[in-house]
Amino acid sequence: MQTVTTREMLRTAVVGLRAEGRTLALVPTMGALHEGHLTLVREAKSRADSVAVSIFVNPTQFGPNEDLDAYPRRMEEDSALLEKEGVALLWAPTVTEMYPDGYATNVSVSGVSEGLCGAARPGHFDGVATVVCKLFNQVRPDVALFGEKDWQQLAVIRRMAADLDLVRPHVSAIHGVPTVREADGLALSSRNQYLSPEQRQQAAELPQAMRDAIAALHSGSAVAPTLAALEAHLLQAGFASVDYATLADAASLVPLDSLSGAPARLLVAARIGGTRLIDNMAV
Ligand code: PAJ
Repeated sequence: MQTVTTREMLRTAVVGLRAEGRTLALVPTMGALHEGHLTLVREAKSRADSVAVSIFVNPTQFGPNEDLDAYPRRMEEDSALLEKEGVALLWAPTVTEMYPDGYATNVSVSGVSEGLCGAARPGHFDGVATVVCKLFNQVRPDVALFGEKDWQQLAVIRRMAADLDLVRPHVSAIHGVPTVREADGLALSSRNQYLSPEQRQQAAELPQAMRDAIAALHSGSAVAPTLAALEAHLLQAGFASVDYATLADAASLVPLDSLSGAPARLLVAARIGGTRLIDNMAV
């Protein structure tokens, strides 16, 4: 595996990997890799000749009171894990390489960025869209893989890539990978490590409450009382607060007050102590 830290080194490496028409997949990450990330890497390997992984803790997607400084950084361990997975290229730029002096451009996706996590974290999806747009232009992959764990992020990136002609149409160039979960259903996340053992146990009530709500919706329960029951379940289980529990159109994320037959998604963000957990499931 080749590790590159400047755009110039990256350009040379990408030309080498692309020789003779070979295809390239990109898996963007912020590091502190777990099985969820590694599942994206394995899926990437099955979709292209070579895989590039980026590790960049992107400051512009963290709010002023969020955990940028505390965000785990484990470059050596991450690098060893990626090497073992057969990754060809690790792109690990510094903040000044990504945003040199004078940097002034921002990508903002309206509509799909605005509700849910976008409402609770102003500017977050601008930061995500901007860095992912830069990563696409830097690496120019044939396919890029993202986790369904961050459903709204995936929807924002799909919208941006279509709107800015970043990927060829009618090729499934942005590939969403189903959420990888622990045995008790909790979605893998780098933030799970902030949970105490007791909080970790309570956290499993999030996917449980969501599965209960989906079963209720399928057996004909109305949306509003079902979402209210989901919230009550979480507060009862020890969650400090529920940021949102929403049924939404799976692509536009417009909230739904009934099931219409179009693909729908249940999305929840809730806090245990100071830790904010998100999850989503198909309905
Ligand atoms: P990060 O949180 O490191 O996640 C990198 C990728 O791994 C994302 O596409 C995310 O959805 C996916 N992922 C995380 N946990 C997962 C799980 N349990 N199952 C499946 N996939 C999972 O998301 C980001 O970084 C950043 O916002 C980024 C897109 C890199 C832009 O900075």
